[in-house]
Formats: sequence, structure tokens, C-alpha cells
Amino acid sequence: MSFPQTRMRRLRISPGIRKMLAGVQVTVDDLIYPLFVREGQGGRQEIQAIPGVFQYTLDDLLYAAEEAAEAGIPAVLLFGIPADKDAAGSQAYAEDGIIQRSVGLLKKEFPDLVAITDVCLCEYTDHGHCGIVRDGRILNDPTLELLAKTAVSHAQVGADIVAPSGMMDGRVDCIRQALDKTGYNDTLIMSYAAKFASSFYGPFREAACSAPAFGDRCTYQMDPKAGVDQAMQEIALNIEEGADIVIVKPALVYLDIIRAAREQFRCPLVAYNVSGEYAMLKAAAQMGWIQEKQVVGEVMTGLKRAGSDLIITYSALDIARWIKESEEE
Ligand code: PBG
Repeated sequence: MSFPQTRMRRLRISPGIRKMLAGVQVTVDDLIYPLFVREGQGGRQEIQAIPGVFQYTLDDLLYAAEEAAEAGIPAVLLFGIPADKDAAGSQAYAEDGIIQRSVGLLKKEFPDLVAITDVCLCEYTDHGHCGIVRDGRILNDPTLELLAKTAVSHAQVGADIVAPSGMMDGRVDCIRQALDKTGYNDTLIMSYAAKFASSFYGPFREAACSAPAFGDRCTYQMDPKAGVDQAMQEIALNIEEGADIVIVKPALVYLDIIRAAREQFRCPLVAYNVSGEYAMLKAAAQMGWIQEKQVVGEVMTGLKRAGSDLIITYSALDIARWIKESEEE
């Protein structure tokens, strides 16, 4: 049937009808909030390239966690910034490392807030790469053991989920085995399965002081020009190796990857709406060129519609507030 029997505008005729027919729902339970913790004192410092996002010190991390918990956000994703970096990234797996202490503190004060930890070396190595470097090459296999050690050290202090982001082959298998061997078989692995070597990570590298000192990440992170099939192969391998939850990253220009993953795999799927994606909207909003609340809402809806179950976003606190406001209206 076509016009005039069919009138699509009838489906949009009033706020009530539109609400009934909304196909996609973003809720606060979908959100994961990234938090940066740095060694030292002096309180939180705003990250220039990610306005509204801060590097916290241990003393004020709990306030950030409290804000998240009060907003109803179920989970935080922790990134550490150590005082000292070395070639082996030893602060990543140090017993008294910044993340180890942060998680201990968080789980003591907010036991119900899900603590997810980034498991990678790039924030901890003096060369800024995600693995051990020899003769200018990033070595895969020698890195695995350090990632496993890092993951176990996080589980030991109470991390609920470890999130390996380094894109070394075999990392999930190695981490799963190490966790199981040490009795942490209940610790989940949320792996960055399809992570592209994206220029949208620029602002994050300022936040985490983790830009590579030489070269780039193109030999380990996926080529942005790689096809959907390669991303599906990565995700399949990660699941086979024991990933409980998989991430696609970045989110916006990789919506096709999210959709394909949704159709091909049954496991929980996360979109990482990365720093550059956040910064673009923030900058335009600050110029008064777009309306932040509306645009961010549209982005979140798009990510859910593409098929993601969860979204890692620097806007999580704002979104939680906006959702609450709209419910009270
Ligand atoms: C660490 C890591 C990165 C991001 C998350 N974990 C940076 C990178 O790979 O260089 C980027 C997140 C963002 O841009 O918001 N490997």
C-alpha cells in the first residue's frame, strides 16, 4: 500500500506515539565511564584535549567514583599514569602500582561499582609502545607474559573485569590461563578485539602520556583500511581464546564493524566512543555550533542501533544526568 493509504507521518504524529515507537533505548546501565588516575598528589587536573575529563590522583579518585555511582553508572574503566616509566613497563604489574592501589581503594569503598582495568603497557613504557621493543620492533610473545602478570595483579586487588587493549596475538589466551591458574576464574576478560590504529586516539595519548616515542602502532593495531572480515577474524579468535565481552574501537566510523559483529557473534559487544570522537563534539559544542546534549544522545542511539550492548564514553556522567532529567520531565 502506498500514499494516501499509507502515511508515514502518522507514526510521528505526537510525542506519545513517537515514544511508543522508539526502537532504540539508551539506559544508564549501558554506560562505562573511563577514569584516569595518576601517581602523585595535588588533586585532579583537567585534560586539555578532553575537556570535562580529568586525571585524578588517589586522594580524589573516590569522589569521581562516588559521582559515577550516584549517577547510577554501573562500571568504571581505569587507566593508570605512573610516576616512572621504563622499557619493560614494570609499573603496569607492580604490586604497589597506581592501578593496583586505585582498585584496592575503589573496591573497598564502592564494592558494587564494577571495576574494569585497562591491561596494556603503553602507559608504562618509556618508549610508549604496547609491547617489549627490541631493535625497533615490537615483540609479541615476550610481551604476553607481562600482560598476564598485569592482569593477575589487577585481579588480586579486586578488579572485576580486565580489559587487554594491546592487540598482541594470543593475549586473551595467555591472560585467561594465568587468571585460572591463580584462582581468578571468576574475573572476566573484556578484550579490545577489533581495535584499529586510529588517529582518533590523539587526545587520549595526551591524557595518558602514552604517545609512542618512535614509529606508530600499525604493526599491532588493525589497519583502518582493513576489511570487515579481518575484524571478524580478530573477534572470533578473541572469543575462542576466552574473551567474555568484546570491544570494537573506535566506534563512529566503525559502525559497520559493530553491526557485522552483532550479526555474527552472540557475546556481549561494547563500542568504545574514543577520545577524538568525544573531543570533536565537545569542540563544536563549545563553539556553539552544535547542541551537545542532542548530538551526544544521537551518537549513543546510533551505537546501540548498530548493535552494541554497552558503550564506553567520556560523556557517561552527562548522559546519566540527561537521562534522569528526561525521566523527571
Ligand atoms: C591503550 C589504549 C588507548 C586507548 C585506550 N587504551 C590508546 C592507544 O591505543 O594508543 C584510546 C582511547 C581513546 O582514545 O579514548 N592501548
